[in-house]
Amino acid sequence: MARWWCISHRTVIVTAFLMFMVFLTINPVKSQPQANLLITGCSQINATNLPNFFGNLNETFRDLRNKLSNNNSYFATSEQTRNSEPVYAMAQCRNYMSTRDCLSCFDSADTFIRACAAANGARAVLDGCFLRYESNSFYDQTTLPGNVGLCGNRTSSRQSVFETAVDGLLSNLSIATPKINGFYAAVTAPVSGTNTSTAYAIAQCAETVTRDGCKDCLAVAYANIRSCATDVTDGRAVDSGCFMRYSASAFFSNNKSTDITSFLRDDDSSNKGAIIGGVGGGVGFLIFLLVVVVLLWIRRSKRTSPGDGLYGATELQSPKDYSYSDLKKATKDFSEGNKLGEGGFGDVYKGIVKDGNIVAVKKLALGSSTAKDNFESEVRVISNVHHRNLIRLLGCCSKGPELLLVLEYMENGSLETYLYGEKRGTLSWKQRCDIIFGTARGLAYLHEQYHVTIIHRDIKPSNILLDNEYQPKIADFGLARLLPEDQTHISTRFAGTLGYTAPEYAIHGQLSEKVDTYSFGIVVLEIVSGKKCTDVPDESAGEQYLLEHAWNLYETRMHLKLVDETLDPSKYNEEDVKKVIEIALMCTQSPVSVRPTMSEVVMLLSDRSRVQNPPTRQNANLANIRIQVDNSTSTTFSMSNADATITELTGR
Ligand SMILES: *[C@@H]1O[C@H](CO)[C@@H](O)[C@H](O)[C@H]1NC(C)=O
Ligand SMILES: *[C@@H]1O[C@H](CO)[C@@H](O)[C@H](O)[C@H]1NC(C)=O
Ligand SMILES: *[C@@H]1O[C@H](CO)[C@@H](O)[C@H](O)[C@H]1NC(C)=O
Ligand SMILES: *[C@@H]1O[C@H](CO)[C@@H](O)[C@H](O)[C@H]1NC(C)=O
Repeated sequence: MARWWCISHRTVIVTAFLMFMVFLTINPVKSQPQANLLITGCSQINATNLPNFFGNLNETFRDLRNKLSNNNSYFATSEQTRNSEPVYAMAQCRNYMSTRDCLSCFDSADTFIRACAAANGARAVLDGCFLRYESNSFYDQTTLPGNVGLCGNRTSSRQSVFETAVDGLLSNLSIATPKINGFYAAVTAPVSGTNTSTAYAIAQCAETVTRDGCKDCLAVAYANIRSCATDVTDGRAVDSGCFMRYSASAFFSNNKSTDITSFLRDDDSSNKGAIIGGVGGGVGFLIFLLVVVVLLWIRRSKRTSPGDGLYGATELQSPKDYSYSDLKKATKDFSEGNKLGEGGFGDVYKGIVKDGNIVAVKKLALGSSTAKDNFESEVRVISNVHHRNLIRLLGCCSKGPELLLVLEYMENGSLETYLYGEKRGTLSWKQRCDIIFGTARGLAYLHEQYHVTIIHRDIKPSNILLDNEYQPKIADFGLARLLPEDQTHISTRFAGTLGYTAPEYAIHGQLSEKVDTYSFGIVVLEIVSGKKCTDVPDESAGEQYLLEHAWNLYETRMHLKLVDETLDPSKYNEEDVKKVIEIALMCTQSPVSVRPTMSEVVMLLSDRSRVQNPPTRQNANLANIRIQVDNSTSTTFSMSNADATITELTGR
């Protein structure tokens, strides 16, 4: 198998970073024409029998071209495997292309790929098509290292409305496309209030991958493309089995867009319908709205049975509209005495509302007025999240001088106080276990059971609140999407708190549910040890950062030593503690693919048996990342086992 994409991890990081800088500075992505080359690569291995090889290569390319020249044919594979130089080849045009354009794009790809001479594998990805060949079958491949997001030119104008529209489109595309025959969809959405009037987007998978493969591939593509800055009006994601693109300029004609509304519905148990975003065409959009309204109505009129125990679902409600003056009165004019804390998204105050209930009022520090567009749609999404381990959003107020959220009030405050604050050492092992388990369930719900996937991005003890029975409730989920629009890609990546942030997210902005898995792992280590992950170790005394310390103890089978000394050893079972530590380490592994999903974590935690696949520190250079914060402007990442040091400036 040709291995042209197999670059080492370190190279990937450095390359990704360099590419990011290159894209920022010289803006190489041009929109039209469709023969614009995005990516090309050659295998480092040459074929040995050249006449056989070129004979096969020419034959398969001829066959591919022939197949694509049939009307309505956009995808083809062809192979010649008779002799010592087998060739497997695949070509695909975007379905909005005419047959003539498709063939001319194919010819350009052919020309690009010929530069690889006798390499036994190569690919060329263009805007309008792609062509690839290998010496082994690769038809079922979906996502591979080397998948990239390519960001176009930055614009000077602020584009947060555009970003919201695009995000909706892309998220809908990644849901709908795998369900559509031919794995292709093109959509548009009107963008109001900017000089850009329409957003265009497509998604496409190779027709030889499975539906799940297509879904996985697009999930990665979506994460990659979202790492483009908010003011970039062109973005593409390229992977082995799929392609995704959005643009503010029309790269397909309006009459070529697909109606994907019927594929967004919750028509089978595993599907997630999306709430966000619009759909091409006014009529399509109306139908979509109607579907949402009907679905909401059906769900509202269906009372959930008390047997729903595990996920504690309750009746669906709209967020209540509070008046600004009422909330001002309830919090005694946001007085210092009522202040409960200062979160990443603004200060929180205790308030007693008219009906006598105690609530927490969060004053969002978002600044700009356009944040309000985001605000209403995001609040709608968050307010329908009902789970006993997630803080309820009771209502909001968007009419006053500030955006306010009204949240469930938690008497016992945050976990932080109990781990290393004034109530340190008061939690028993049983209570700690309940907190770990409940937090895992809350996250699994946000990731996999709610109809829109919500990635928290900022899991840490101060965001885990405790009710009067010391059951955990996660706060601040969904709020990362509300960050001020003028924060660039670089600083929005630091939505997370250093130390709890997964390395792939901190370094190159790759966002997935596994980012939360990582932070969860760190929090569990803190819960077990009663130590803070960012505590700077005294190296002369042989101390290490918490994560490093935990791995070292685990590798010498001494991980029981990690346990908080305030815990009474007679009150916990050693095997249970070890298992919890192993699960936590598992969650902090790199690469992302070996980290468990949160529902797997829930299963591991509820299973009495031992962990089947013990964690390994395989990519220690990532797992060992050390983060030093200089509280002025710069954030330095230095990787202990790698000689690369990446310095990035926050705020630009
Ligand atoms: C990006 O910038 C380059 C150079 O300024 C320009 O030639 C190109 O047309 C721009 N592309 C888009 C899509 O605006
Ligand atoms: C493969 O062939 C090309 C030219 O045909 C040559 O430049 C290159 O060095 C060869 N690569 C290897 C690994 O032999
Ligand atoms: C294959 O095609 C290339 C370019 O089209 C041509 O130069 C070469 O002679 C062909 N080789 C064989 C063996 O057909
Ligand atoms: C679609 O739109 C393009 C240009 O916008 C036009 O040339 C073409 O005829 C239209 N096709 C149909 C089927 O209406």
